[in-house]
Amino acid sequence: MSDLILLGLESSCDDTAAAIVRVSDGRSEVCSSVVKGQTQLHAEFGGVVPEIAARAHAETLDDVTRAALTEAGVALSDVDAIAVTAGPGLIGGVLSGVMFAKGLATATGAPLVGVNHLAGHALTPRMTDGLDYPYLMLLVSGGHCQYLRVEGPESFTRLGGTIDDAPGEAFDKAARLLGLSQPGGPFIEAAARCGDPVRFKFPRPLLDREGCDLSFSGLKTALMRARDALVAKHGGLSEQERNDLCASFQAAVVDVLREKSRRAIEASDPRSLTGFAVAGGVAANGPLRESLEGLAKSNDLPFVAPPLKYCTDNAAMIAWAGAELFRLGVRHAMDLSARPRWPLDTRQPGMLGSGKKGAKA
Ligand code: KG4
Ligand code: ZN
Repeated sequence: MSDLILLGLESSCDDTAAAIVRVSDGRSEVCSSVVKGQTQLHAEFGGVVPEIAARAHAETLDDVTRAALTEAGVALSDVDAIAVTAGPGLIGGVLSGVMFAKGLATATGAPLVGVNHLAGHALTPRMTDGLDYPYLMLLVSGGHCQYLRVEGPESFTRLGGTIDDAPGEAFDKAARLLGLSQPGGPFIEAAARCGDPVRFKFPRPLLDREGCDLSFSGLKTALMRARDALVAKHGGLSEQERNDLCASFQAAVVDVLREKSRRAIEASDPRSLTGFAVAGGVAANGPLRESLEGLAKSNDLPFVAPPLKYCTDNAAMIAWAGAELFRLGVRHAMDLSARPRWPLDTRQPGMLGSGKKGAKA
C-alpha cells in the first residue's frame, strides 16, 4: 500500500489543533501535532463559552495548520486528504473547522473526510500502539465518558456511559468546591496523596444498577454536603480535611470506574478482545490507571494507555481516523455537515449527558 499523508483538523471543544500524520502499511508516523488551547479565554467564565470558542477557532485554524505543515516539512500540495472533526461537539467550533477544511479542500483539490471526534479518541490506540480490532475502550475526559467495543473504523458498540457528568467534570467541580485550581483533576490527585481515602463514605453511584452506565453528579453533591458540615462545625476546612475529602472522592471515582470496567470487559467477550484501552484527560490519574491496569491483567488483557498528548484532544487522532476511513473509500463532498450530536453506536438510545463542554455523543 502506498504512503498516505493526512492533514487532521480539530476544533470541537476548546482546543484548536492541526496535525500531519503519515501512514504506510498500517503504521503511522505523527510528523506534527499542534494544539492551541483556549483555557485563558474562558478562565473568567468558569466554563467554555461556545461563542468565544467558535470565534477563537476560526481565528486560529490557519495558524495551527501552517505550523503543523512547517513542523512536518510537508507542503499543502503533498497532502493526500484532509480529515476534519465534523462532530459531536460545540456546534460553532465544529462549523469553524468544517468550513475551513472545505475551503482548503476546494483550493487544493484534496479529498475531504469528516471524522467523528469520539472515533478519533477511540481509534487512537491503533495509531499509538498498533492495537488490532476488536478491543474495549474507556473514554474518560472532561467531556466524555463511555465504554466502547471497537470493532472497526465505523463499527462501535457502546456498552454504557455517563448519564450526567463526565468524570473530568466531576473532578473539576470537586476542585471548585474545595477551592483548588482548574483543571481540577491533577490538584485533587495531588491533595489525595496526603489524604485518607476511607475517612468519608462517599456513594458509589449506580453500582446497585446492572450494566455499565455511570453517574457522577451525586458524588459531587455528597462532597459538597461533607464540606458544608465541616465548615459549619468550625468555620473552615483544615488542610488535612481537604486532603481527606480529595482522597475519599477520588477513591469513589476509581472504585466506580473499576467496577464498571470489570462489567464492560465481562460483557464484551474478553477472550475475543485484543486489549483494554483508555483515553481522555482523566486517564492521567495515577490511582485510576493502576487500578484499570490491574483489572486488565487479571483478565489477561493487554492494557493500552496512549501518551497523554494523544489521549487529550488533538488532531493527530483525527488524521489517523481519517486515514482509516480514507482507506475504506470514504470521501465527503461540500455538503458535509457539522453535527453537534453524533453517537458512534446508532443502535443505542441517545445519551443524556451534556455537560459544560457540550453534548457527550
Ligand atoms: O481529555 P481532556 O484533556 O479534555 C476534555 O475533555 O476537554 O480532559 C480534561 C479533564 C479535566 O476535567 C481534568 O480535570 C481531567 O481531565 N484530568 C484529570 C487528571 N488530569 C486531567 N482528572 C483526574 N486526575 C488527573 N490527574
Ligand atoms: Zn475529546
